[in-house]
Amino acid sequence: FTINTQTVSESCPSNIALIKYWGKYEQQIPANPSISYTLNHCKTNTTIEFFANEPFSVQTFLSGNEEQKFAEKIEKYFQNIEQYLPWILKGKYIIKTENTFPHSSGIASSASGFGAIAKCLMKLDDHFSGKISEEDALRKASFLARLGSGSACRSLYNGLVVWGDSDEVSGSSDLFAVQYPNTEVHEVFRDFNDWVLLIHEGQKSVSSTVGHGLMKTNPYAERRFQEARENFIPMKSILKSGDLESFIKLVEHEALTLHAMMMMSDPAFILMKTGTLEVINKIWDFRRETQLPLFFTLDAGANVHLLFPNNGTEEQVKGFIETELLQHTQKNGVVKDIMKF
Ligand code: PMV
Repeated sequence: FTINTQTVSESCPSNIALIKYWGKYEQQIPANPSISYTLNHCKTNTTIEFFANEPFSVQTFLSGNEEQKFAEKIEKYFQNIEQYLPWILKGKYIIKTENTFPHSSGIASSASGFGAIAKCLMKLDDHFSGKISEEDALRKASFLARLGSGSACRSLYNGLVVWGDSDEVSGSSDLFAVQYPNTEVHEVFRDFNDWVLLIHEGQKSVSSTVGHGLMKTNPYAERRFQEARENFIPMKSILKSGDLESFIKLVEHEALTLHAMMMMSDPAFILMKTGTLEVINKIWDFRRETQLPLFFTLDAGANVHLLFPNNGTEEQVKGFIETELLQHTQKNGVVKDIMKF
């Protein structure tokens, strides 16, 4: 008779896509490849207490508060991945999780959340199934995270990360993410800022599950999937050469295309708010006037991710953000908050 209790803790960052994943098939197979930056300052910390030999049950706490809905989601997730972790339904789980970024920040916590859970599961698997190499464990964590939330599989690696089979990225797969080779990345892309302007708090008007689903009937979907695949060709040479101007054009195009797809779906959704447009126009004016590399990307929501490199121009860019974007727009109630990652 052995009491088999295991406690494991892991931390995982969030990520922001540059070429977006939007549209998927069964079992979280993406309709197109995507590439993201991992947001190292924006993490979920998770502790799992596992009581083996007890009936299967899941209890979850988010920042100390018990969350029944989240527990149900995790239960379903565990059932779904049993074929890959045969011990998983044989015990009781107490899962405690907290984010290092505010819940209302509009940062998707599902990527860092499922990333952290998948890492914890691989630590438990190490105990129950025996050792595999660190590299294989990381790949399997990415594979498992994908089955929780697609974009989560990219959070397992640092820097630029690719998920989805692309002819342009060797070793890329629909099943897990891979790190984009550092030797193929110009130094200007290695040290980037992502500051998020919070424009709308609270629930998104459309969940990503519904959003992906709408691509099934969107008449422009196939063309979009093809375009995302093709965008890896310029992206690859841009990352190598350090061509910021083309990078900016491509990344903003990707963000606007994601939103355009939602506008062209049935039913249609407009995920931007007035403030989103105001900020985008200010960024474009600033760029026209100064030629400085400040640009944006968007998730499936109204908040604006401000992207800019640490290449010697960042003080001027920060000055503009603090005065023009923040003070002016905050006074008008357009921007609620800013998170600097
Ligand atoms: O991982 P999901 O199913 O929440 O989808 C995320 C989709 C976007 O964030 C809009 C784009 C992406 O590639 O992360």
